[in-house]
Amino acid sequence: MVEVNNILMVCLGNICRSPVAEGIMKNRLDHYNLNIAVDSAGTSNYHPGENPDLRSTKNALKNGIDISNIVARQFKVQDFDNFDIIYVMDEQNKIDVLNLSRNDTDKSKVKLMLTELPGTSYKNVPDPYFGDEAGFQLVFDLLSEACENVAQRLKHQKTLQKK
Ligand code: 4NP
Repeated sequence: MVEVNNILMVCLGNICRSPVAEGIMKNRLDHYNLNIAVDSAGTSNYHPGENPDLRSTKNALKNGIDISNIVARQFKVQDFDNFDIIYVMDEQNKIDVLNLSRNDTDKSKVKLMLTELPGTSYKNVPDPYFGDEAGFQLVFDLLSEACENVAQRLKHQKTLQKK
């Protein structure tokens, strides 16, 4: 079992989906007293240095998560060394990240976020950027459930490791 010490959330712009994923994941890990670092990045260089899209920030805050201080950055090859799991929000993100991978170890770290939500009809976390407010709540709901599942599994693994 690979010990997980840090998790990276990745989308296209790092201003809508992955900052929400970062905020929720941190909240869930805190809830289970897990000392695991979480960061986020975008595959594109569209928005580096920017805070999250205000629609994402407002929607997350409405649901009790503050992501206003997150600053967007672009995914870089060194992220494969710095993170144990790289969750990508959609299949295009996965292609783009895998294109930068150097070996099988890098590749093995990349997972579609919603593989952590078995039973959902969504394969991808839908990009809300060009849509309406409902899209932001859908993103939040999907990520909440997926991150809860991840946190519960990591808690369980840590409990087993202590025994
Ligand atoms: P994100 O959403 O990948 O969830 O951050 C997007 C943000 C910006 C753009 C597209 C998607 N854009 O085209 O600028």
